[in-house]
Amino acid sequence: MSNIELKKLPQHIAFIIDGNGRWAKSRGLPRTLGHKAGFETLKKITKECFYNYKIPIVSIYAFSTENWNRPQKEIDYLIDLFEDYTSEKFVKDYPGVKLNVMGDYTKFPDRVVRNVEACMETTKDNKLIFNLGINYSGQDELVYAINGIINDGHKSVTREVVEEYLYTAGQPPVDFCVRTSGEYRLSNFMLWQLAYAELYFPKVKWPGFNRKHLKDSLIEYQSRDRRFGSIKE
Ligand code: FPP
Repeated sequence: MSNIELKKLPQHIAFIIDGNGRWAKSRGLPRTLGHKAGFETLKKITKECFYNYKIPIVSIYAFSTENWNRPQKEIDYLIDLFEDYTSEKFVKDYPGVKLNVMGDYTKFPDRVVRNVEACMETTKDNKLIFNLGINYSGQDELVYAINGIINDGHKSVTREVVEEYLYTAGQPPVDFCVRTSGEYRLSNFMLWQLAYAELYFPKVKWPGFNRKHLKDSLIEYQSRDRRFGSIKE
């Protein structure tokens, strides 16, 4: 871990895992194989964050509310991955990690809903947190929070109250967000939680993002001067 200062690592890291389709296309492969490779990368990188760098919270954008517009074959492939991932394999693969799904997962087939709920229940007391965005939209999350606030009868709100109603209630904001594939957008991901996050856009497509890229990203994060709107003396 040379060049990395353990004390200055992000406590909450987010990944927008972009470029699976283009990675596959450039190899003459179907898009689904890009997702298969992206899925392997996801497992490798999230474990590296939790267990090597000891980053306690990792957030992943795996499926947006707009992704329903993709070809059915691709959606079905991703649904199978979500079902597989949120099974007992998650509990075995990620000791000490709590699964927290962000987004309306009830729109997925029952088999996914059952697994997600069982996995969240089994892992609920773990201290590390994996926020998995599926059928997720940052704007919808704010609407969901506002509806929760109204239903609970609040007459006025503060930032702290809003935070209690987000999918990430009780968690610190995102410190560092990495979007792969050279696209410079947030695409509606964790809009509230990213307010002061450092952003990083490496060119590599997600399936090619390896441990070295992660390390380089963290070194980049550590070089940033986080002022939170203030000034340095
Ligand atoms: C973005 O690449 C990737 C997605 C929309 C899906 C990512 C999902 C996975 C890798 C599966 C994760 C699975 C679990 C269980 C968390 P893209 O298809 O938009 O790539 P492109 O922009 O090159 O077309």
